[in-house]
Amino acid sequence: TQVEDFQVTNEPVLEYLKGSAERKTLETALNKYKNDCQDIPIVVGNEEIRKGDVKYQVMPFDHSKKIAKYYWANADVVQKAINTSIEARKDWEAQPISEKIKVFMKAADLVSGKYRMELNAATMLGQGKTIVQAEIDAAAELADFYRFNAYFAKELMKYQPLSPTPSVSVNTFRHRGIEGFVASISPFNFTAIGGNLASAPTIMGNVVIWKPSDTALLANYITFKLMREAGFPPGVINFVPADGPVFGNTICSSPHLAGVNFTGSVATFQHLWKQIAENLESYHNFPRLVGECGGKNYHFVHPSAHVQSVVNGTIRSAFEFGGQKCSACSRMFVPESLWDQIREGLLETRKQLKLDSPLEYDTFLSAVIDEKAFNRIKGYIDYAKMSSNLEVIGGGNCDNSKGYYIEPAIIVAKDPKDRIMQEEIFGPVLTVYVYSDKQLEEALTLASDTAPFGLTGAIFASDEKFIAQATEFLKMSAGNFYINDKSTGSVVGQQPFGGGRVSGTNDKAGGPHCLLRWTSPQVIKETF
Ligand code: ALA
Repeated sequence: TQVEDFQVTNEPVLEYLKGSAERKTLETALNKYKNDCQDIPIVVGNEEIRKGDVKYQVMPFDHSKKIAKYYWANADVVQKAINTSIEARKDWEAQPISEKIKVFMKAADLVSGKYRMELNAATMLGQGKTIVQAEIDAAAELADFYRFNAYFAKELMKYQPLSPTPSVSVNTFRHRGIEGFVASISPFNFTAIGGNLASAPTIMGNVVIWKPSDTALLANYITFKLMREAGFPPGVINFVPADGPVFGNTICSSPHLAGVNFTGSVATFQHLWKQIAENLESYHNFPRLVGECGGKNYHFVHPSAHVQSVVNGTIRSAFEFGGQKCSACSRMFVPESLWDQIREGLLETRKQLKLDSPLEYDTFLSAVIDEKAFNRIKGYIDYAKMSSNLEVIGGGNCDNSKGYYIEPAIIVAKDPKDRIMQEEIFGPVLTVYVYSDKQLEEALTLASDTAPFGLTGAIFASDEKFIAQATEFLKMSAGNFYINDKSTGSVVGQQPFGGGRVSGTNDKAGGPHCLLRWTSPQVIKETF
């Protein structure tokens, strides 16, 4: 099919300066959502369902405030969503790509226009992001995912990979959606990831049952509603909050499971994979498993590094959004020769970071997402305080009386293989190992191989020879590798995102490759 050509660009980020029009509209959206608890249904096809266990989403920085009431779908409702999606599939799959592109482009425009402030407000109130962090996620990145997936799909449709069979036949290649349904399971930490996981498979002709994150419910629901408004037909994406095991058991035991599009913990992804393996004979298709599962990302500092860039980049990567980005730096390797300067810089800058409500414009980071996260992160800090191999050199106070507040902590490890240097903490905790300048290669080996993850990593150096060598040496340690920049902040289309090892299947969200996981192509040979 012929698809009209077009280009896309990244959505510009707004600044919300004092007195600006955008700041005023944001305030209106914040007031709307902070003073009223929204009643959010499960949505299957055209039907809004309000039954099942009743749950509430609270503000992480003030957990006495409920912003959303929602319902956990039971197994019957999840099954109903499966049946409904399969019914919707035929028509949607048959729609020409140009129609699907129109819907995606409309969704992007709704994000960047009509719903921008609502998405930002819901992300600030529900997930505790500051406006700077909300805007790059719920406004810019979400719009980018829709636009770039439309663009990548168009490019894929243009490409005919087949050679002709001269004088005998015409060979054609076409993409098809996979029979069955895709289960999309999304995390709290990026509103954009929810929207992308729920929609990306559909551009290739698939249908989705979306289990949003309990702690991103409001922002995810606004995303869902705007997708319906953009023209996704009923049943093509179904909004199904549910208890993890109930949802997992129901989708994995359906013969129609076509795939899982997942971002979340390693343990959950491994569990789903095993459950699918157990049911393998029952499926119509081998389910496609696409997962992004976190990291233990490093900043590696060479003696030739520019100290101020190291300090600024590390503070931002480790502590922005409370270290709850899967890409956040959580282990740092520093040469002895630079440690005094870097230590001073980190401690000085850390002191200036304002830990407060995300609604204050000068807040740098706010509370972590929930009680469970608070206890886990506090557990690591307490462990560090008690261990003779670890020194907490700054921060680490925890207070959950009003919100789940954890003061950004910097911990120095004597043993580079301490569990705190290997396990994902997912909070505002930076762990540092100071290596001897004479043992550069050993230190690189530690950065590369100590933790089982492979998501992001960064090196800081001005020595070109080292940069070239380290880039090769660390090749398998990070799916997204940064030279003289922090390990966070990938941009759709510019740095497609994902990593290997236990960090995931590395299908690169925000790039063309992941769409290939959601197609079941057909080759047709027509003989004359
Ligand atoms: N795309 C996000 C980042 O790179 C996860 O920080």
